[in-house]
Amino acid sequence: MKLENKVAIVTGAASGIGKEIAVLFAREGARVVIADLNQKGADAVAAELGGAKHAIGVAVDVTNEAQTEACVAKTIEAFGQVDVLISNAGIQIVAPVDQFDFGKWKQLLAIRHRCRRRAGTDVYLRKGDRSASQVRRVL
Ligand SMILES: NC(=O)c1ccc[n+]([C@@H]2O[C@H](COP(=O)([O-])OP(=O)(O)OC[C@H]3O[C@@H](n4cnc5c(N)ncnc54)[C@H](O)[C@@H]3O)[C@@H](O)[C@H]2O)c1
Repeated sequence: MKLENKVAIVTGAASGIGKEIAVLFAREGARVVIADLNQKGADAVAAELGGAKHAIGVAVDVTNEAQTEACVAKTIEAFGQVDVLISNAGIQIVAPVDQFDFGKWKQLLAIRHRCRRRAGTDVYLRKGDRSASQVRRVL
């Protein structure tokens, strides 16, 4: 197993691509935090992965700084460390460029980038060394 003794936070992991990433990480031995707006869905995925020893669900809006900090704190409390952040959470808004609502465009960017900056910094500072890896969205 490639990820034994590693702890990963996967945002947007209650469904879709994030869930599949969480499943793969768990299969490779990582303990995984299912961080998502959807608490019920996050808890269900955590249960599928074997429950509290292997995975926990944490409700978080990644655009909210306090909530991302709380998510990292809960991860440390549950698993003692954070090694990997997968900033997968996102929304898809499709519209012709001349009709793209500016507020929605800013929301889209906030989700994609703010968690990465905030939680990535937390992971880095709490770990206290340069070995913390932050995996960006892969898509
Ligand atoms: N599916 C595709 O073909 C595709 C293609 C290109 C990019 N993407 C991107 O990949 C990512 C995942 O896509 P998916 O198809 O699995 O989407 P999905 O809608 O199935 O999953 C996204 C998850 O992110 C969560 N989420 C949304 N906003 C959030 C927020 N503010 N805070 C925390 N969680 C939040 C949702 O609750 C959901 O569980 C998205 O960023 C999407 O834009 C997907």
